[in-house]
Amino acid sequence: MTKSWKDRAEEVIMPLYPQKEICLERGEGCYLYDTNGKEYLDCAAGIAVSALGHGNTEYTKAAIDQLEKFIMCVGSYPTQPKVECAELLVNNSCFDQVFFCNSGAEAVEGCLKLARKWAHHNKSPDCKEIIAFDCSFHGRTYGAASCTYKALKQDYFAPYLPGVKFAKFNDLESVENLISDKTCAVIIEPVQGEGGIRPADKDFIKGLRALCDEHEIIMISDEIQAGMGRLGTLYAHEYFGIEPDLISIAKGMGAGFPIGAFLGKKKYTSAFAAGDHGTTYGGNPLGTRLVYETVKQINDPAFLKNVTETGEYLMDNLEKLKADTNSIEEVRGIGLMIGVDTAYKIGDVLGNLLDEGLIATQAGEKSLRLTPPLIFTKDHADEAVDKIGHVIRKEL
Ligand SMILES: Cc1ncc(COP(=O)(O)O)c(C=O)c1O
Repeated sequence: MTKSWKDRAEEVIMPLYPQKEICLERGEGCYLYDTNGKEYLDCAAGIAVSALGHGNTEYTKAAIDQLEKFIMCVGSYPTQPKVECAELLVNNSCFDQVFFCNSGAEAVEGCLKLARKWAHHNKSPDCKEIIAFDCSFHGRTYGAASCTYKALKQDYFAPYLPGVKFAKFNDLESVENLISDKTCAVIIEPVQGEGGIRPADKDFIKGLRALCDEHEIIMISDEIQAGMGRLGTLYAHEYFGIEPDLISIAKGMGAGFPIGAFLGKKKYTSAFAAGDHGTTYGGNPLGTRLVYETVKQINDPAFLKNVTETGEYLMDNLEKLKADTNSIEEVRGIGLMIGVDTAYKIGDVLGNLLDEGLIATQAGEKSLRLTPPLIFTKDHADEAVDKIGHVIRKEL
């Protein structure tokens, strides 16, 4: 008997992501198809990555055109895609400069290094401490992992970066209690993703901004999951009405191409000098051309309006489902970043949804996470709610 894709995958790929039974083959718009031709509504989007859905025509054209021109050169050469992409990101932000890297974790590393260098020269060489939050997630490289709450449980990876302290999310007093002359930066996800889709309160974020100003602490907004249109604004902090000092972005910005970036105000970015930081692939012509294409599409008022309206519609209908059944405990989220806590084991919910033809993911201990492509429509939302309703009515 021939082996299944799952068995073949598990033989040769490390067991960090338990493999599913189905093998995905292609995508179109908001749908994915497996090797048997079964259709799935994609409510995961590679975890908030496939912002334009699958097979976007302009994106594909740009990729082919750039593949034919050239896809790589040394970082010290300006290229049209890199410069135009940087201008697009900077000119539509409150920031002055950007640095391109290859993933979210690398974007966070860049922010942490920049913050520490700035504080070393502008405050004191002892000013190295970072304040992060409970249930935070910032990535798997050592700096980012050190600011991730799970580090407290994964002691087998220790020693982590020294000087990281965890405050309580949405609790300003707990931040104040950790601030000292040694505090260099605060890093926060405006909507916690992996931690269970937990939006920050607007007042809390505004209070945090004020605290950072008062103590000259660098405010880093990690917008890797919540940024790039997902909350209905290009950058996540715009939704909260504040300006951070540095931000990390990735995921949706490349709509599937692996790329990340961090942006900052010149006051901070000018602390970096040649040789302080770098990357081989960051800012390559192919990646930046695709970010340009993606951000150009996202940063259209009609596109962002669709995210807000479809997100609200989806949340409203999930709330109605909650009222109609006894199986939903809470619906949370902003835009198309939504968490649903059900009365059932999340593994059972996800497995049944997959059978129903819906792909979603888990966030936190028990939340169903919906982060569909940003081109999701009300029809897609109806289909998602129908499928979720069908599953939770089964009393798993
Ligand atoms: C908020 C946040 N920060 C950082 C990361 C790490 O990004 P990457 O997996 O691209 O390294 C993620 C990934 O899920 C994230 O959600």
